Amino acid sequence: MEPLIAVKNLNIAFLQQGVETHVVKDISFDVCPQEVLAIVGESGSGKSVTALSIMRLLPPPPYCTLRGEITYGQLDVLKLTEKQLRKIRGAGVAYIFQEPSTSFNPVFTIGYQIAEAIRLHLADVDDVKAYAIQLLRKVGLEGQHYEAYPHMLSGGMQQRAMIAMALACHPRVLIADEPTTALDVTIQKQIIELLKNLQRTENLTIVLITHNFGIVRHFAQRVLVMFQGKIVEKGLSEQIVTHPRHPYTQALIACIPTIGQRKERLQIIDYSAF
Ligand SMILES: Nc1ncnc2c1ncn2[C@@H]1O[C@H](COP(=O)(O)OP(=O)(O)O)[C@@H](O)[C@H]1O
Ligand SMILES: [Mg+2]
Repeated sequence: MEPLIAVKNLNIAFLQQGVETHVVKDISFDVCPQEVLAIVGESGSGKSVTALSIMRLLPPPPYCTLRGEITYGQLDVLKLTEKQLRKIRGAGVAYIFQEPSTSFNPVFTIGYQIAEAIRLHLADVDDVKAYAIQLLRKVGLEGQHYEAYPHMLSGGMQQRAMIAMALACHPRVLIADEPTTALDVTIQKQIIELLKNLQRTENLTIVLITHNFGIVRHFAQRVLVMFQGKIVEKGLSEQIVTHPRHPYTQALIACIPTIGQRKERLQIIDYSAF
């Protein structure tokens, strides 16, 4: 199958106080239409910057340099102008972040902010409020939440509202960057179930960033494992969960909590071993 997104030999470096730090090192991967691809790795391994680079949401050069190739369909993402990029952001690829409470502006209602996103991207919607309410219902919220301010909703409900906003312009790809990390375990499960359903009903392609292999196993068809800016392992998630080859992946999988089995203490990953 033709990939929807193809990343080839991508390198990302940040320049800070005259020092260049190479944070993503020569990674290549594809995202196929309507698959769920997980990117797994410890904090700081380069997952978010990789995902942000697909939408060119990183600082401009010289603060951040991107080398390599990113294609979205036929488009050469690293060569697009700001105007062309605006079309991809939202309608092509939508992004939801880990912390929904910081993604909404606290002084406007949820409905107002979703309506703004609709107005910005879709000029031809007549009844913006009705469409926003339809989106809220799609993610398991009620019409009355249109009038709610962000602080009036729980973390899980805020994340649902973020997902509603991301869906506003019918994106083909949804990048979910640790969408459940800030939530309680039961709520995490509900959000993952919601994403799973939306993937089917909206024909979405999902790139799911997580450090939780338990989620990967239940949700993603394929997985990339990142470690210190490199992809150390990639393949079918079932295969990687049952037969991890890289010691880092093995260590991550050993940390999956099993229901009913309480681990005495967290396993410590010994980084010097890789
Ligand atoms: N805007 C930035 N400026 C400088 N360094 C950054 C910036 N964003 C991320 N980094 C660095 O890039 C590395 C990878 O970060 P990130 O992709 O956020 O990791 P992850 O999402 O896997 O936790 C980290 O070392 C981080 O400090
Ligand atoms: Mg991150």
